Amino acid sequence: MSMRTLNRPRGLWQVLREALPTRHGGLRRCAGGDGREAPEGHVHLIGCGPGDPELLTLRAARLIREAQVVFYDRLIDPAVLALTPRNARRVYVGKRCGDHAVGQSGIERQMIAAARAGRRVVRLKGGDPFIFGRGGEELRACRSAGIACAVVPGVTAALGCAAEAALPLTFRGVARAVTFATAQTDKGAEIDGAFAPMLSAGHTLALYMGRRMLRETAARLLSQGVPCDLPVAVVLDGTTARQRTLKGTLAQLPDTGPAPEGTAGLVLLGRSIAAAEIDVPANA
Ligand SMILES: C[S@@+](CC[C@H](N)C(=O)[O-])C[C@H]1O[C@@H](n2cnc3c(N)ncnc32)[C@H](O)[C@@H]1O
Repeated sequence: MSMRTLNRPRGLWQVLREALPTRHGGLRRCAGGDGREAPEGHVHLIGCGPGDPELLTLRAARLIREAQVVFYDRLIDPAVLALTPRNARRVYVGKRCGDHAVGQSGIERQMIAAARAGRRVVRLKGGDPFIFGRGGEELRACRSAGIACAVVPGVTAALGCAAEAALPLTFRGVARAVTFATAQTDKGAEIDGAFAPMLSAGHTLALYMGRRMLRETAARLLSQGVPCDLPVAVVLDGTTARQRTLKGTLAQLPDTGPAPEGTAGLVLLGRSIAAAEIDVPANA
């Protein structure tokens, strides 16, 4: 069967069937006209966690080892890239505020083109693809183009940072809900009016992309009646060797100082994050 036949536009049922992951998280293979299984180009959107390569899932590691084309973000650890086969094509598509190696539609176009050419494509993303990772858009783009696409979950920054910094996100009797939110929207920086009621109700708030506007966020929350002693933590480069955890309160914010360019910072707010702290006697 020629590549052209393999890659002709497929019917809706076939696209849906291929889009369903197999039990092992792979994508189905198409049977060729001669009854033999023929490999078909496809895309896996893979969550690689917030930094520490040991947080990669076994499924992610297997798919990365089998990849032929690899699109990767800025925060992907070199140890994860080292899993890619030596002859795989690696494409850097990292983004940093206002500085995008390739625009979002360009990334989607290139992934689709590689899969159409019959390649096993992996898209490596920091954290989890579906948490502020634009995984939904890439999944939709692939499926609209008739390309089979599946998602492999990753440890999102809030979970990785909270665990490494020993800051519980929920705590029995203290916090029974946690919200992942972003301080940045496609219209720019914004502080959501819903945060104050959540925090006042005892929920924990994990704020992605919120470090730079922490002062404005705190001032707004205080003006909305959130208690000034609410614990606040900022985890910088969580789960990496460079991790720093800075703690304070809404009134006395942790001083994150001028962090080096490219530092990732996650803001955590809520009583739960201080609930596991115990006073250790000085001579203990
Ligand atoms: C575009 S979002 C991507 C989030 C990612 N998809 C996830 O699930 O973690 C990038 C933001 O995630 C947070 N972040 C990602 N990795 C981090 C890390 N290692 N330490 C602290 N914050 C991190 C920061 O707030 C950063 O600005």
